[in-house]
Amino acid sequence: MSGNRALRRAFRIEDLRALARRRLPRGVFDLFDGGAEDELTLADNRAAFQRVRLRPKVLVDVSRADASTQLLGGPSALPMAIAPTGAVGFGWPHGEVALARAAQAFGIPFALSTSATSSIERIAAAVPGHRLWFQAYILKDRDFTMKLVERARAAGFEGLMITVDLPVGGKRERDFRNDFSIPFRWTPRNLRDFALRPAWVARQFASGLPVMENLIGLSAASTSTQAIASSVGRNYDPSFDWDALRRLRDAWAGKFIVKGIVRGDDAERAARLGCDAIVVSNHGGRQLDGGVATLDAMPEVIDAVGSRASVLVDGGVRRGSDVVKALAMGAAGVLVGRATLYGACAAGEAGAVRALEILSDELLRTMRLCGIRSTAEIGPDLIFRGPLGAQRESSFTG
Ligand SMILES: Cc1cc2nc3c(=O)[nH]c(=O)nc-3n(C[C@H](O)[C@H](O)[C@H](O)COP(=O)(O)O)c2cc1C
Repeated sequence: MSGNRALRRAFRIEDLRALARRRLPRGVFDLFDGGAEDELTLADNRAAFQRVRLRPKVLVDVSRADASTQLLGGPSALPMAIAPTGAVGFGWPHGEVALARAAQAFGIPFALSTSATSSIERIAAAVPGHRLWFQAYILKDRDFTMKLVERARAAGFEGLMITVDLPVGGKRERDFRNDFSIPFRWTPRNLRDFALRPAWVARQFASGLPVMENLIGLSAASTSTQAIASSVGRNYDPSFDWDALRRLRDAWAGKFIVKGIVRGDDAERAARLGCDAIVVSNHGGRQLDGGVATLDAMPEVIDAVGSRASVLVDGGVRRGSDVVKALAMGAAGVLVGRATLYGACAAGEAGAVRALEILSDELLRTMRLCGIRSTAEIGPDLIFRGPLGAQRESSFTG
């Protein structure tokens, strides 16, 4: 099926995932799709949304509905932002540019990963004036980290996002099975894998193999995308702690976001430290397997933080109705990771745009079907707390 026709036939994020699976070598698809170990948390993130049921209001004039909101004190056309994801260029050349442009087209913030294959400056130039957040991992080389933060400031990024759920890399076994391991080896398995996807190979070779552009200068090994899967966490500093977080907070004048918290006590501490926003996240199930689903963890975090910081959530958002559920349970917004990634890896910018079209259409449709005209009207009364919801009744008092 031709590129555009296949995209037009994608009605669900799941269809974009299937398209990405058909177009990417297996090892590359699994690098994006997979989680850690038994993928319990990966599955549970999704299941937590599927356990929630809504209580729609009827006979409301919904001839107009508007999903715009304020995220971190700035306007966003939808209550969502694109989550930072590393190595996107392995799926589509400079896939981060595709994602950032799609975010700009839809008027939502874009978060760039430290381990992106497009540099801070490349992204700033691709979407001038757009709301950008830089996601920093804390590298063992702290000076290098601070230089990255300074580059983000100089390039006009409004937010600094510190990811705290990766003191060491999660055990991502699909990567091991697919021979995405250290050191990267050209094995019969991955050569056969690549040979089955000639269009992907041609695109990759035409554009030059991806490089982790932000990390150029750190060390040769750490900029090679070929080694990223199994080297996840290798350059990161496992001694990074609350004091170091405070120093970063003090060094950054803009919006400060902490990503990867799932406990009330940690959230409380982050809020006390002056973080503007907390992202309830378990890295899309790619780090601690067996960790709590993010939607299940969110009420505890919201209770602990109160009005001191915004609470965003990510992990498993695949439907517009998931966004309504998250907001009804108190989130200020969601981050989307794989949803837009599947689109970008399958078809570049057009694919990322398609993902956002699907999500925004479903979101507005769900709002109207619920008798809701604006995000401000989305409240806890929308959540059904009968037998199906009983599980969360004890923790969710909203
Ligand atoms: C392929 C991939 C790469 C990721 N890379 C990063 C990263 O570099 N930094 C980060 O903070 N989170 C990273 N994440 C986690 C996402 O930011 C986000 O938390 C997660 O994808 C949300 O779950 P979802 O994919 O189900 O939407 C990555 C996720 C994926 C799928």
